[in-house]
Amino acid sequence: METKMIRFEKNEKAAEMIAEFYGCRPKVFVHSFGCQQNVNDGEKIKGVLIDAGFASAECPEQADLIVFNTCAVREHAEQRVFGNIGALKKLKETNPRLMIAVSGCMAQEEAVVEKFKNHYPFVDIVFGINKIDLLPEILCERIRSQRRVLDTPAERTEVIEDIPQERGSRFRAWLSIMYGCDNFCSYCIVPYVRGRERSRASADILKEFRELVDAGYKDITLLGQNVNSYGKGLTEAINFPQLLRMLDAVPGDYCIRFMTSHPKDATHELIDTIAESRHISHHLHLPVQSGSNRILKLMNRRYDVESYLALIDYAKTRIPDMTFSSDIIVGFPGETEEDFLKTEELCRRVEYMQLFTFIYSKRSGTAAAEMPDPTPRKEKSDRIGRLLAIQEEVVAKLGKEMIGRTVRALVEGDGRKKDSLTARLDNNMTVEFMQNAPVGEFAEIRITGVRGAILTGELA
Ligand code: SAH
Ligand code: SF4
Ligand code: F3S
Repeated sequence: METKMIRFEKNEKAAEMIAEFYGCRPKVFVHSFGCQQNVNDGEKIKGVLIDAGFASAECPEQADLIVFNTCAVREHAEQRVFGNIGALKKLKETNPRLMIAVSGCMAQEEAVVEKFKNHYPFVDIVFGINKIDLLPEILCERIRSQRRVLDTPAERTEVIEDIPQERGSRFRAWLSIMYGCDNFCSYCIVPYVRGRERSRASADILKEFRELVDAGYKDITLLGQNVNSYGKGLTEAINFPQLLRMLDAVPGDYCIRFMTSHPKDATHELIDTIAESRHISHHLHLPVQSGSNRILKLMNRRYDVESYLALIDYAKTRIPDMTFSSDIIVGFPGETEEDFLKTEELCRRVEYMQLFTFIYSKRSGTAAAEMPDPTPRKEKSDRIGRLLAIQEEVVAKLGKEMIGRTVRALVEGDGRKKDSLTARLDNNMTVEFMQNAPVGEFAEIRITGVRGAILTGELA
């Protein structure tokens, strides 16, 4: 096996053992589920393993190590993971040296780890998402001991810097600025699996951000479960708008996005910062979850519809081309038809560019799991359908308004039609066009039409 420079100090010993054990260069396949933060963790899992001597596998069939980086946010997400992992048993029969590792938010749930222990004997490693930096060592322990290494969930509050990342794109990047969540929305498992909120030092974020800009990244999304509370607990005095201004001052041709903004902590200062910036997207993901104050209270969201709409109005006045997207939970325990009508009304009023809708899923251990939930499933899925119909109308209207405008968009790759390309607008809409343009660069595009949620256009 060729010798290579190890970038990450902790990998040095492990790399030697991995090389010796496998003989030739082993391959790793990482499959991430869930939110962007998990996708970014998956890039670190891959990065740290490649640094320790692995090559990247194109598919699970080629791999010597498969890592499932899991999501626990809804029951459906967990079932998918169990199904996917179950299917790997066959692969192990054809490749006896294949190892299977599980990480991510499910690995932070004790009951889930027990299930892997007792019912999934072919899972070799379960490791906490807060231990990515130790993964090559954990793998070595598995090799050395010849026994499964199933880590019980534990909180580790340190913020580990400089973990190598193997990014999935060369022009769009995820940059985690904080970890964990302190909000305890009553339906949500994230604070239990991701632990308490920790912010990274601004100097470390700035360093990573500069590296991305220097490497030609054009679209950089700052990630955290609630970016608006960035800075809490740091020794330096800094808040999220100040961090944004620091990053925005870095020279270059790029766009900054961020998610997620919790409405209770989104301020006029944030909107002013976007308005005055050179690089920050005029699109804000501001999940409202429900349009009913009664439900928002039960959800422990700590804002009301009036303050939410006041912020949206302020943003629309300050930044006329501002657009929004949102998450909505339909069928929260006790949601009545009347509550739901308020959500419909809010969605019509705000006119979201994108709406991510979820049927409430009971997560054990959360406060909402104890609340009575008499609404039948069928009623909940009907409500989702009604919301999607409204959203279709809204998007058609917003799409029509775009016709005739010339916009800057980042060319992303092939479109659905032969010889077409797609590009993403600042407002997250996708435009398809038939000319040639360099992928990963911005292009000026004139919008000529709209089909469903997709715009059509031509280079300006
Ligand atoms: N921190 C972010 C995102 C958290 S998870 C935020 O606060 O917005 C992403 C989305 O999943 C949430 O916005 C919510 O709409 C949805 N979600 C979380 N828990 C859920 C549950 N138990 N059932 C259904 N949807 C849920
Ligand atoms: Fe979950 Fe609420 Fe935290 Fe978002 S802010 S991760 S919804 S607890
Ligand atoms: Fe899922 Fe964990 Fe993200 S539960 S949504 S992967 S924080």
